[in-house]
Amino acid sequence: MLPGRANVEERQKTFVRLYVGVVVGLALGAFVLAVSLHFPDGSDATGASFSGVLAFAALAVGLQLAEHRLAVSSVTGAISFIVYIAGALVFGPVWGAAITGVSVALVQAVRRNPPIKVAFNVAQHVLAILVGALIYVGMDGPIPPDSIDRSLFQFVGFVVGFFGVNTTAVSGVVAISERRRFSDVWISNTWSFAGYDLAASVLSLGIVWLYVHTPLGVLGIAVVVLPILFIRHVYQVNHQLQETNHELLELMVKAIEARDPYTSGHSQRVADIARLLAREIGLGFKDVASVATAALLHDVGKIHEEYAPLLRKEAKLTVEEKRLMDSHALRSAELVATISNLRGPVEQFVRHHHENFDGSGYPDGLAGEDIPIGARIIAIADTADAMTTDRPYRRALTFEKVLSVLARFSWKQFDPRLVSAFRTSAAIRHMIENRLRSDVPFLDPSEQNGSRATSPLPTAARSSLLSDASSVPDSARVANE
Ligand SMILES: [Fe+2]
Repeated sequence: MLPGRANVEERQKTFVRLYVGVVVGLALGAFVLAVSLHFPDGSDATGASFSGVLAFAALAVGLQLAEHRLAVSSVTGAISFIVYIAGALVFGPVWGAAITGVSVALVQAVRRNPPIKVAFNVAQHVLAILVGALIYVGMDGPIPPDSIDRSLFQFVGFVVGFFGVNTTAVSGVVAISERRRFSDVWISNTWSFAGYDLAASVLSLGIVWLYVHTPLGVLGIAVVVLPILFIRHVYQVNHQLQETNHELLELMVKAIEARDPYTSGHSQRVADIARLLAREIGLGFKDVASVATAALLHDVGKIHEEYAPLLRKEAKLTVEEKRLMDSHALRSAELVATISNLRGPVEQFVRHHHENFDGSGYPDGLAGEDIPIGARIIAIADTADAMTTDRPYRRALTFEKVLSVLARFSWKQFDPRLVSAFRTSAAIRHMIENRLRSDVPFLDPSEQNGSRATSPLPTAARSSLLSDASSVPDSARVANE
């Protein structure tokens, strides 16, 4: 293992431990505060029955064990939060926290999770419930809620507090341990489930009503929860399908690049840079995802056999060979379009990733804003990665050198607005300089499994790729295929 990587991983572990320590401290502090507010004279004024608390805790444990947790996200893969919220509404913040803490701890123990994970999961759940419940009580919400009129507004406060703490705490630890940006993790882990979770949380009120005001008692919880478990399962299957589709695309690209060690990891790195640049210019969540997918697949057409001899050729390509090589943009777009939900923007971004801003590119000679924005972004990301990767005839160029080359070819090959966004982006600079400095691949969770290797030096240069940028004449184009 490289010393740079070892240090980075050790530092990460320390950060994670510190972070968990802070969350545990906050949960303990909130618990002490709740006890001092609700049992000021040492007595339990909530009227909580021991058997009732036990029944809620048992149900929460049963539900957690029954849940199919998401493989891709640890934020909201659960439904037991409905029971935690209902428990806090029926028995008050302290007993609600106790139900939550004990049931989460039991399930974590059954799963034999490592102590740090147990501590974090218990603490973040307890903290979320306490913050939500204290907001509810602070807004004069009655325990247990007696009428919708007197508790709905306060209940919204509870839910906002609960999810605010829950998603922030978990996204924080994922961001640290996977070295991703907090906002990225928060959006990707919360977005698909936000509507569902907020709607499902209303069912806590249903549970409370059935428990407090009907003879069903604890059975009322099952009446409410079982149908939701089914709906949840459908959501999860759908989400996992989307993840699997994306992973299959990555697998395909890796398989193609495996034939040529020189380009190993290139497409994924281009996708990483393109994603940051797309975000930098303010594209929406969906458009950013389309740009990243197109960047991942931009050269997928090179899988065709006709390109193999050209990719292997060490000498300069002839005019005829260059023309054939240029057709890879079209062939890539054709391949991408075989996947129905990639037709449209993603297909267009791939098709036009070799267009030049002044209209001198291919395949259609589009110019300026006529070139789809995603294609203009990929053109820059592709070139930036080519320049910052070691070549047999030169070392990777510095970030400053990349900036000067991009500036030189601004208006000619590249969109000047995007070049400017690239130059001023702290995130892009950080990503590229970090990689150049530590020889560690770009920051992405997949690399943590060792699934993405740095490009080893190939035995032969490919003349069709970028030559040393310092020797690129002004009249030439920065090759970025
Ligand atoms: Fe290309």
